[in-house]
Amino acid sequence: MGMTTLDLFPRSTPPIVDRMGPCAFVLRGFALPIAAELVRAVTAIDALAPFRHMETPGGFTMSVALTNCGDLGWTTDRRGYRYTTVDPVSNQHWPAMPATLRALARTVAITAGFGAFEPDACLVNRYLPGSRLSLHQDKNERDFDAPIVSVSLGMSAVFLFGGSARSDKTTRVPLHHGDVAIWGGEDRLRYHGVMPLKDAPHPLLGAQRINLTLRKAG
Ligand code: SIN
Ligand code: FE2
Repeated sequence: MGMTTLDLFPRSTPPIVDRMGPCAFVLRGFALPIAAELVRAVTAIDALAPFRHMETPGGFTMSVALTNCGDLGWTTDRRGYRYTTVDPVSNQHWPAMPATLRALARTVAITAGFGAFEPDACLVNRYLPGSRLSLHQDKNERDFDAPIVSVSLGMSAVFLFGGSARSDKTTRVPLHHGDVAIWGGEDRLRYHGVMPLKDAPHPLLGAQRINLTLRKAG
């Protein structure tokens, strides 16, 4: 019998799930069994496609450093936001998406009730103390049928989950090492962001936070 992705994450008890919205959840500690493996994978991605601070169309340099893995990678420059098949710095394809990461995202989508999820893009964000991400919608994907899956590693952050307008009230959701957030359906286009990171070093990653955001972009 072939192994299903669920077999990779055996659980004797149901995961602890916090609800952020009708179709938005945080699965606490869901990535912990593969966290060390994911940290090694990020080191390998960084060696091929180093983290960099990108410029927004408005001319600001992002405080979060980013890179990508997968068939498509999200980039920004003065001309706008878009997905590309190659890293504009190296002109090489983005590094491959690690199979375990893809399997984790699939399992989370099934567990949270979204059904089959085939991510083709993974944005990797690196936050240092003081880094923040302003409120935005994930809307550069071709369609919004698939959910967004977000894996947090290292230092804790306060995630802001808002509404469908930038000015809507936000709720503060702490995200810790190993937590996996997922939002889709009617919550797919909700504004979200990350508060400036506190300097509270993590045993495995030191004074940084890594966030992996998996999408179906193309
Ligand atoms: C993102 O919205 O791209 C990242 C969210 C996070 O870092 O938790
Ligand atoms: Fe986002």
